[in-house]
This record gives sequence, structure tokens and C-alpha cells, in this order.
Amino acid sequence: MGFKKILTTSIVAMMISSGLGSHALAAGPAQFNDKGELLLPQNYREWVMVGTQVTPNELNEGKAPFAEIRTVYIDPESYAHWKKTGEFRDGTMTVKELVSVGDRKGPGSGNGYFMGDYIGLEASVKDSKHFANEPGNWGFYIFYVPGTPLVAAAKNLPTQECAECHKTNAKDDLVFTQFYPVLRAAKETGASGVLAPK
Ligand code: HEC
Repeated sequence: MGFKKILTTSIVAMMISSGLGSHALAAGPAQFNDKGELLLPQNYREWVMVGTQVTPNELNEGKAPFAEIRTVYIDPESYAHWKKTGEFRDGTMTVKELVSVGDRKGPGSGNGYFMGDYIGLEASVKDSKHFANEPGNWGFYIFYVPGTPLVAAAKNLPTQECAECHKTNAKDDLVFTQFYPVLRAAKETGASGVLAPK
């Protein structure tokens, strides 16, 4: 086998093993299966964490509309694009983890809401080909909500169920940047460190 052939073979093998097959549409980390379902992203804990929200059950008559603590991530290349342009590029993916409130007393840090267990996982993908007719070209997914098992691939959810509220209430292109200080500080500034609030 000549060098060129070996090179081609290994590039093809790399593409297959990294999932860059026919299911990848826009640039970005989202991978879809043959049924068009979004595959559970494997490495999102290595993405950029943009914000955390706390809506504990005890401040919501025992049952918060959104489970108690949430942490939101964005894929690193889309974060870099956001820093430069202030826009979410085609292919942007976000992941939201839901965590229960665990302890309410910190040893030395005071009373409060400390993270307990993982109880949910949701995601959104901006893809102009896949979601040409959806608001902002965003698609929404649930991999895991309290009381259901984690799935390896998730179906796209109807616009009214998810996108509608995001479209009405989120500050930037259906994304709740008003709750993500990391994205606010970085928007078009290139800043990735601490910035004093404007
Ligand atoms: C009633 C309003 C509302 C509905 C309906 C809603 N969301 Fe959200 N979503 C929010 C808010 C508020 C945030 C900001 C973070 C937080 O508080 O959890 C958010 C954040 C997110 C994020 C993080 C990125 C971003 O866009 O800010 C994802 C992913 C997400 N939601 C997925 C979903 C999915 C999947 C559904 C449908 C099952 C859904 N959302 C339905 C209000 C909503």
C-alpha cells in the first residue's frame, strides 16, 4: 500500500470513528442517527459552562416548574464564535444539566442550596438545514427528566413545547443570555476572564 493510500484510508477511518459521517450537518458537535434523533453528547462536561440557576422546590410550593439547580454549557467552538461576533453560529449546541438540591448547610460557608444528584439533561441545536422552519433554526431535546431513564438518542420536540417560551423570553436568539454572565461578558468583547458588570 502506497503512502497516499494509507493516508486516505486513515483519514476515512478517522472520519468514521469521530462520527463525521453523513449524519453531521452544520459544523458543530451535534450528531444525529438514521432516525434523525440527536445522539447524547459524550464530552459536554469539557465545554464552556455559561451559567447556573437555582429555583428550589421550597421556594415554589414544593414543586419548582424547572427542577431545582441547572447548569448550562455551550460547545467551545461556538463560544469562540460568540466571543468574536456576538452571534450563535450554525451548529451551536447547548446542554442543560438539572441537579437536585442536596445539603442545605455548608461546613463554614453558610445555609443554602448545595448540589445533590443529576436528575435531568436537555439540549438545543441551531441548525439551519435541520430546523429550517423552526424559530431561530433551533431544535430542542430532552435526554433525561426527573422520573425517566436517560436515553442515548433523543427526538426533536415540538415548537410549542420548548421553542415558544425561549422565543418570547430569551434575550439573544432564543438563548437565555440574561442568565449567563459568561456569555454576557464575552459577547463581541473576546473577554473570557472576569469583567466588572456594566
Ligand atoms: C416556560 C419557559 C420555558 C420552556 C417551555 C422551556 N424552556 Fe428551556 N429555558 C428556559 C429558561 C428560563 C432557561 C434559562 C436557564 C434556566 O433557568 O434553566 C432555559 C434554558 C434552556 C437551555 C439552555 C440554553 C438556552 O437556550 O438558554 C436548554 C438546552 C433548554 N432550555 C431546553 C429546553 C427544552 C428541551 C424545552 C422543552 C422540553 C424547554 N427548554 C422549554 C425556559 C423555558
